[in-house]
Amino acid sequence: MDPKILAIESSCDETSASVISNGKVLNNVIASQSVHHKYGGVVPELASRAHQKNIVHIVNEAMVSAGMELQELDAIAFTKGPGLLGSLLVGVSFAKSLSLALNIPLIEVNHMQGHVLSHFIEDPKPSFPFLCLTVSGGHTQIILVKDYLKMEVIGETKDDAVGEAFDKAAKIMGLAYPGGPMIDKLAKTGNADAFTFPGTSMPSYDFSFSGIKTAFMYFIRKEVSNNPAFIESRKHDICASIQKHLIQMLLEKLEMASKDLGIKEVAIAGGVSANSGLREALKNLGERHGWRTFIPEFQYCTDNAAMVAMVAHHKYLNSIFADLNVSPLARMPLMNR
Ligand code: KG4
Ligand code: ZN
Repeated sequence: MDPKILAIESSCDETSASVISNGKVLNNVIASQSVHHKYGGVVPELASRAHQKNIVHIVNEAMVSAGMELQELDAIAFTKGPGLLGSLLVGVSFAKSLSLALNIPLIEVNHMQGHVLSHFIEDPKPSFPFLCLTVSGGHTQIILVKDYLKMEVIGETKDDAVGEAFDKAAKIMGLAYPGGPMIDKLAKTGNADAFTFPGTSMPSYDFSFSGIKTAFMYFIRKEVSNNPAFIESRKHDICASIQKHLIQMLLEKLEMASKDLGIKEVAIAGGVSANSGLREALKNLGERHGWRTFIPEFQYCTDNAAMVAMVAHHKYLNSIFADLNVSPLARMPLMNR
C-alpha cells in the first residue's frame, strides 16, 4: 500500500497543507497570519477569514510541489480539533468538499496527536514507549506514547498553558506579539539568575502556571514603581530569568515521569518547543540522565499540516475514516478521534 494523502491544518492562525506519500512527508506549506500582530493576540473572526482567503492557494501549492494531481490522492485529512471553531470550520468544510468531489475517504485528526507524531517526520525517530512533553499556546501535557495512535496524558496543566505564560509575561513587559519568541530572543543575551520567582508545587506530573503569571505581574509592578526605566534597562535579564523559571517547571515534571516509569526516550513538541532555552536545557538534562532526546525541527514545532499528515497516514493504514457529517471540536481530549 502506498497511500497518498493531502492534509489540511487550520486550527488557529496558520493555514497549512501537506502531502504525504507512503508515510513520507513531501512538503509542508504554511501561511502565517500577520493580521493579528497589531491586536496583541489571535482574533478568531480575522483568523477564519484569513483561512478562507489562504486555503485554496496553500492547497494548490502543496499539490504542485508534490508534482501530483488531486485525482492521484487516496484520502483527505483535516484537523478536527482542538482549536478555534471558526478556523477549524474552514479546514473541515474544504476537506469534506474535496473528499466528496474526488470520492475518496476523509480522515479526521486530533491536533495534539499531530504535535506528538511530528517526531516521525524526520530521522531520528523515537521508539515506543516514549514520553512527549507537549507545550503550546493551549496545552501543557506529558504524554506517554505507547504507539502511533495509542497515547495517554499522564500530566497536564490545571489552569493556563505554558505558552500562555510566556505570552502573558511578554505582554506585562509591553513586548510585541507573539510574546514567546520575543522572550526567547531577548533572553539569549540576559542573565538567567538575575531574578528569582516563587515556585508552585503541584501533585504528580501536573502543572499550574497561573500563580507564576500573577507573581510576575506583581514583581514587574513593584520594580517599575521604584524605577520607571526598570523594564527597558533590564529586559534581557528579566526575559532570561522568567524563561529559566518556566523551563525548570516543565523539566522537573518530565524528569520525575522518566524516573518513575523508567523511560529514557524523551521528546518535546508544540509551539513552545521552538524555545531555544528549552531545547538546550532538554539536551543537557538528557545527557545527564542518558536519555535519547527528540526535538522537532523549527517548522514542525509550531502548527503545521505535515504532523496532521503523519497521523492521517497511520489512520489510513488502520482504515480509520471519518463520516461526511463530522463537525469540528473546539475542545477535544487527546484520545478522542
Ligand atoms: O503550537 P502552537 O504554534 O499553537 C497552538 O496550538 O497553541 O503554539 C503557540 C505558542 C504561543 O504561545 C507562542 O508564544 C509559543 O508557542 N512559542 C514560543 C516560542 N515560539 C512559539 N514560546 C517560547 N519561545 C519560543 N521560541
Ligand atoms: Zn499546536
